[in-house]
Amino acid sequence: MSRPTAGLVCREDLAAHLSRNSAPYADPVGRIQWSELSLDSFWLPEAAISLNGLAAFDCLPQQQRQRLSQMEFINFIQMGIWVENIFIERIARGLRRPPGRLDEHRYLLHEIREEAGHSLMFLELIDRSGLPRMQMQVPGLRLAAALGRHLPYDWLGFWLAVTIGEEIPDRLNRYLRKHGDGIDPVIRDLVTTHVVDEARHIAYARCRAQKLLDGAGGAKIRSMGLLIRPLLRQFVQAFYFPGPGVYRAAGLEQPETWAQWARSNGHRLDFVDQCVRPVLRGFETHGLRLDRR
Ligand SMILES: [Fe+2]
Ligand SMILES: [Fe+2]
Repeated sequence: MSRPTAGLVCREDLAAHLSRNSAPYADPVGRIQWSELSLDSFWLPEAAISLNGLAAFDCLPQQQRQRLSQMEFINFIQMGIWVENIFIERIARGLRRPPGRLDEHRYLLHEIREEAGHSLMFLELIDRSGLPRMQMQVPGLRLAAALGRHLPYDWLGFWLAVTIGEEIPDRLNRYLRKHGDGIDPVIRDLVTTHVVDEARHIAYARCRAQKLLDGAGGAKIRSMGLLIRPLLRQFVQAFYFPGPGVYRAAGLEQPETWAQWARSNGHRLDFVDQCVRPVLRGFETHGLRLDRR
């Protein structure tokens, strides 16, 4: 993937460079102004809500649309906690045999600290909001769990899976950062903190994947496509298409119907394509053609 991520190119001293950027760490739980959090606000811009564009959604009272934006965001960060747990577990397991280079070892510890910080700030948000924690739809992520937990650490498929697991949710965070003027300031702060740290994680994962892709032949890259394509679809479904429990928690009747409508909502499908396209383009430069549908 020759395209640099957030200006961070895949260079020999990348881990040292990333560690220097990670070193001035500020615990997000202590830094975020939680007292400013409000339930009388949107937590997602309406364009980023799964039902946006549907006439039935436009007819809902503002309070209910706000609540749906809050529950969709809670669902999104619960998925984030689940994925971050796998990252932390795998990095920590990889450190049983520490990398020979000190800067690599140091960077991986920074990444564990930052992922733990993200999950802690997500839990803090759920706790302070008083909103219900929802049942996770982990069955939809079985392949992601299996690949994330069991693929060999130095294998191309593993680093492609990590890249997808980091980038698919990050594209929504980036959207919120760019178009989130009207959303709750605490949510914007939380999203900004996450995007800044994830730029480093993604640069590292892309670099690991890039080095392995550069040494792989066409047949191997095509076989990777077969493995990674269903994973990509699982992540997109999990992060961008809430299950019925989210609509139920938002107080909507017939939640299964709302979930179905979201999945066939043309506005939503276009929004997701717009978010995911840059991720796919990054892979295409290395002959790895993926599509999310
Ligand atoms: Fe994270
Ligand atoms: Fe990350």
